[in-house]
Amino acid sequence: MKKAAKKDFISIIDATRSLPSLLNSAARLKKELKQGKGHLNIRPLKHKQIAMIFEKSSTRTRVSFEVAIHHLGADALYLNPGDLQLGRGETLSDTGRVLSKYVNGIVYRAYDNRMMKELASVSSIPVINALDDVEHPCQALADLLTIKEIFGKLRGLRLTYVGDGNNVCNSLMLASALTGMHFAAATPKGREPPHRLSEYAASIATGTGSRIEIVNDPKAAANKANILYTDVWVSMGQEAQKEEREKLFVPYQLNKQLLGLADRKAIVMHCLPAHRGLEITDDVIDGDQSVVFEQAENRLHTEKAVLLWQIGH
Ligand code: CP
Ligand code: NVA
Repeated sequence: MKKAAKKDFISIIDATRSLPSLLNSAARLKKELKQGKGHLNIRPLKHKQIAMIFEKSSTRTRVSFEVAIHHLGADALYLNPGDLQLGRGETLSDTGRVLSKYVNGIVYRAYDNRMMKELASVSSIPVINALDDVEHPCQALADLLTIKEIFGKLRGLRLTYVGDGNNVCNSLMLASALTGMHFAAATPKGREPPHRLSEYAASIATGTGSRIEIVNDPKAAANKANILYTDVWVSMGQEAQKEEREKLFVPYQLNKQLLGLADRKAIVMHCLPAHRGLEITDDVIDGDQSVVFEQAENRLHTEKAVLLWQIGH
């Protein structure tokens, strides 16, 4: 019998056909865990090993994946690139081929999306993107779950992202297009999401009945939004541009004034970590409309759904 092709999760687009089942699976796993019967009885990934290579810092992604792997009965091997021969010049390509002989999947946080794709192309096991410079698909999946739990639907909602057109913004834009949410990104000139991705999202959106708008005016974009979303102004790897970025993005702060323009029942989202007083104010992130910790919690449940989808067969 022909072996089924391995699945990777490099872009949220890779989950296009699986999105409804991933969200249902995450919701079910969450419910079971809350009822205390989730991980205790069933260990569907027993005897599987998952390598985790993180080139950059992480709290949520690392911990939620490690706990998810443990709950599913598998073992997590956290590999610091500096401790691997990778740190002494062994190629990523050889590393991927070798790891494929030992483990059943790789969770990889990379600086460069080209490295992510290279690892996936050389590995015979699934590679999961734990963030790179182009996308953060695992975050987008948890965000979709959070939004669906609150509004009971995704299609037709208006999601406005303010700030940097970065990895988190890109995955959210594509996820919105896939699920029929109207998406607007308000960024400074020159910090828009890459044109090829917004064009791609717009082409998907024509099929799902949503709109993709890339604008420079945060107030117009926030008007009547159901969801206001922001992320850091200085992503990991951009530290050299800190001073310049912290000036450029000031008009894009998610504060009470901006929130006042959104729908009365709008929710506030942030993937975290937040830089309070910069991209978001304390009163907004700690306010009644904020769901940032629900988002963080949902990372655990959606990571589990991703692991089962990719490795649980
Ligand atoms: N949101 C997110 O991915 O957080 P970490 O960088 O802490 O993993
Ligand atoms: N855009 C941020 C997201 C962190 C979760 C970064 O890449 O640093």
